[in-house]
Amino acid sequence: MKRALTPGTFDPITVGHIDIISRASQLVDEVIVSVAVSAKKKPLFSLDERVELVRQATAHLPNVRVEAFDELLVDFARRMDATAVVKGLRAITDFEYEFQMTALNYQLDKELETVFIMSTPQHMYLSSSIVREIASLGGDVSQFVPPCANEALIRKYAELGVTPQK
Ligand code: PNS
Repeated sequence: MKRALTPGTFDPITVGHIDIISRASQLVDEVIVSVAVSAKKKPLFSLDERVELVRQATAHLPNVRVEAFDELLVDFARRMDATAVVKGLRAITDFEYEFQMTALNYQLDKELETVFIMSTPQHMYLSSSIVREIASLGGDVSQFVPPCANEALIRKYAELGVTPQK
């Protein structure tokens, strides 16, 4: 059984994430989408909300499950009996950060392989943070996130007094 993790903060999940998760699910027997607590990032959505949105957005993928984690990725991988981490690689700005994490994770556990899948061109510049910024200013992000996350963003920013654009 080959099991891989696709870790991230998913604040919220985007269509770019779904593309990478779905492509990863073709490569291994099981993918665990690993939703990090990421307290330092002060996420807009709570951990439960992020997990639930990822669950809804990946429900069509039979060999994908979703778990939250609050520990070192290498420890979580060991606990889940996963042998690989699959990450999406976007424009070159991602590279240095991903390079650092991959190198350190390798130092921490040489059994855990990190594999990158290149983002498709239409997702190359998409990120949860830019989606949050557009939504926070009342912009339409429905082409960038799954419907459940779009509704959640509209609800969240409505609570904060932001009206979506028509
Ligand atoms: O979506 P993000 O915020 O870029 O994901 C970053 C994430 C969650 C993959 C990374 O911060 C992580 O692996 N956190 C778990 C804690 C850990 O292992 N940190 C050391 C990495 S070298």
